[in-house]
Amino acid sequence: MHLAQQHVDLYRLQVENSLGLLCVHDMMGTLLSVNPAVGHSLGYGSEEGVGRNLREFLAPSVRHLFDDYLRRIEAHRIVSGLMRLLAKDGTERVWFYRNTRYNRPGLPPLVLGHALDVTRRVRAEHELTEAKKALLKAHDELAARVAERTRELEQANNLLRTEIDHRRQVEDELWRARQLESLGQLAGGIAHDFNNFLTVVQGNIALAKIHLPASNSAHGILEQASDACQRAASLSNQLLAFAKGGAPVRRVVSVAAILKAAVDLVRAGSPAEFTLRVDEDLWPADADPEQIHQALHNILLNAREAVVEGGHVGICAENVVLGGSSGTRKAGNYIRISIQDDGPGIPPKILSRIFDPYFTTKRAGSGLGLATAYAIISRHDGYITVESAPKIKTEFTVDLPAAPGVVMEQKEPDETVCTGSGRILAMDDNDTLRQLLAQMLERLGYEVTCARDGAEALALFEEAMKADRPFHAVLLDLTIPGGMGGVAAAARLRELDGKVKLIVSSGYSDAPVMAEFRRYGFDEIIPKPWSLPGLSRTLRRVLG
Ligand SMILES: Nc1ncnc2c1ncn2[C@@H]1O[C@H](COP(=O)(O)OP(=O)(O)OP(=O)(O)O)[C@@H](O)[C@H]1O
Ligand SMILES: [Mg+2]
Repeated sequence: MHLAQQHVDLYRLQVENSLGLLCVHDMMGTLLSVNPAVGHSLGYGSEEGVGRNLREFLAPSVRHLFDDYLRRIEAHRIVSGLMRLLAKDGTERVWFYRNTRYNRPGLPPLVLGHALDVTRRVRAEHELTEAKKALLKAHDELAARVAERTRELEQANNLLRTEIDHRRQVEDELWRARQLESLGQLAGGIAHDFNNFLTVVQGNIALAKIHLPASNSAHGILEQASDACQRAASLSNQLLAFAKGGAPVRRVVSVAAILKAAVDLVRAGSPAEFTLRVDEDLWPADADPEQIHQALHNILLNAREAVVEGGHVGICAENVVLGGSSGTRKAGNYIRISIQDDGPGIPPKILSRIFDPYFTTKRAGSGLGLATAYAIISRHDGYITVESAPKIKTEFTVDLPAAPGVVMEQKEPDETVCTGSGRILAMDDNDTLRQLLAQMLERLGYEVTCARDGAEALALFEEAMKADRPFHAVLLDLTIPGGMGGVAAAARLRELDGKVKLIVSSGYSDAPVMAEFRRYGFDEIIPKPWSLPGLSRTLRRVLG
């Protein structure tokens, strides 16, 4: 074979077996030859494209670019790029091409096309880009969710912190209440006995005064002794105010009046300036006026002790309505009393201890002032708080539940002694007290029989009924250690005689019975220590 022919055959073989896509088209795009790889790429038979225009094989979306392709190859000789084609089965193929214009001397130029099918690569790249986008989106979503979750966690954390603070506060209050309770038991016991002694002293002073002619100079001495007794009684009342069972003896009272009286008492003789501002229509409270006076007095006294000459104590009272979101506080109407002084303030490190019993920073202080105030206000279902900025001011705030009722005018107690008549049965386990009571009642004109406990009182009462000499009133001590006490005796006496007048007597607000005596079947209440005017008033009210 001719050598040249051998070369041509070799080239044809190379073209026919090439994986590269080879074609020849004229300057209009008409295909003059294609190799089998082209047919394979587009799914046509090996000679199917010859004679047709390359434009027909382009994907419809890019067909309009074909003229531009022809112009570029005319101008630049070599052009390359990506070409989108439509396979016979309708799917798209992507070729990377590098086509060259071939100038033949004396003949029209041709284009030698050479391309690679990069469909898979392009698709993979496309998928990669999509995957990257999806990844970025997922990342953004994740970041957003993390941020949201963090926010939620922060909120939960804040809630938890508030809850912990709240619990700590409740724990503190519980601890304080327990401490007060145990101390109260002790103090209550002591104060109770102390009150009995005072009753004896006070009663005997009263009797001694009666026996002395009015001109006797010992009257003044006895008066002084009586005053000291009164002060001692108020001290034991202070103790009883936070003793267990020191239930307030409540009635609807004007808080404005109590506050004014307390301020006047503390203001007297103080070198500081006191200003008092009270809402005109300040609500009343259902409260024990003496206890409230005591609580306010203790706070005011501290303020007075804190300020220097020329200092200022500002007191104001207003109506407030606490809503449901007031933390541990019960919602409702309250009377808010704030007492502010410009004294040295309370150092933060002792602020949490000032309500503790016996906590004091004063040389002569007992440390019971605020503990008592706290116990009284708590027992009235109120709240007491303090805020202090050292060297600037201290402010105590008392919130006392308001009462819807109307204030009953309370007359000044009548100090005159009125005598009466009738048979009275008096029960008290304490010998001295019993004797004193008998003497006082006899002095008032009554006929008295004494009993040591409930059982004896019942026996005497029945006996008197049988003898047709019934008692007109029975005075009962509330607690009889080891014997039948006032409440049980009262119930039995009522069964015997529905009309008998029953009077309960005990230490100051010594038990809930004293606060709600009518519920326990009593007609009247007479607190110890007894006074002659007090006894005479009560008996006249009961016996008419
Ligand atoms: N207005 C105030 N300014 C500065 N410190 C105060 C004020 N009120 C109370 N305190 C501090 O609280 C402590 C306790 O007060 P609290 O009234 O219970 O007892 P006290 O005043 O020391 O003694 P007492 O009241 O029995 O005479 C005081 O010792 C004082 O340190
Ligand atoms: Mg004090």
